[in-house]
Amino acid sequence: MKSVLVLAATALAVSTSFAAAQDASIGAAEYMNSCAQCHGASGEGNGVIAGFLTKSPPNLTLLQKENGGVFPFSAVYNTIDGTSASGVHGTSDMPAWGARYSAKAGEQLGFDYTGADVEFFARARILALVEFISTFQE
Ligand code: HEC
Repeated sequence: MKSVLVLAATALAVSTSFAAAQDASIGAAEYMNSCAQCHGASGEGNGVIAGFLTKSPPNLTLLQKENGGVFPFSAVYNTIDGTSASGVHGTSDMPAWGARYSAKAGEQLGFDYTGADVEFFARARILALVEFISTFQE
């Protein structure tokens, strides 16, 4: 049992570091494209349209510090996806991206894709973003 766990952990470590090498640029590019106008290029909440929003975009470099030194992976993922309970579909000034990435999947994957591919595409985008955000924590 223990060796199975070690194996699984090793496989995970290898695959995540491989994914990290590939995803870093996807996450960074997607961040600059979709998030920086509000959250700022360096994540500090000072994007060019920040001043026009009802609610100021939070400083994303403090997420880990404000969570007792642990990067709040799931919370960040859910916020971006739009599935978190904080009124994202109603009152939040933070757009939900999960549905948007799913909608985009068709044009990027070609015609021969399934529902599972769409979900994977959206998830990969969000994971790349979460990972990029984790790189600029204080
Ligand atoms: C239109 C401006 C805008 C854009 C674009 C935007 N955000 Fe936000 N974001 C906000 C606002 C405003 C909040 C605070 C929402 C709230 O508290 O209701 C927020 C909250 C967040 C949070 C939660 C932070 C916390 O303190 O818990 C994360 C994480 C986040 N955004 C990431 C992103 C990412 C990643 C993108 C790009 C895919 C993005 N945002 C695009 C305005 C924006």
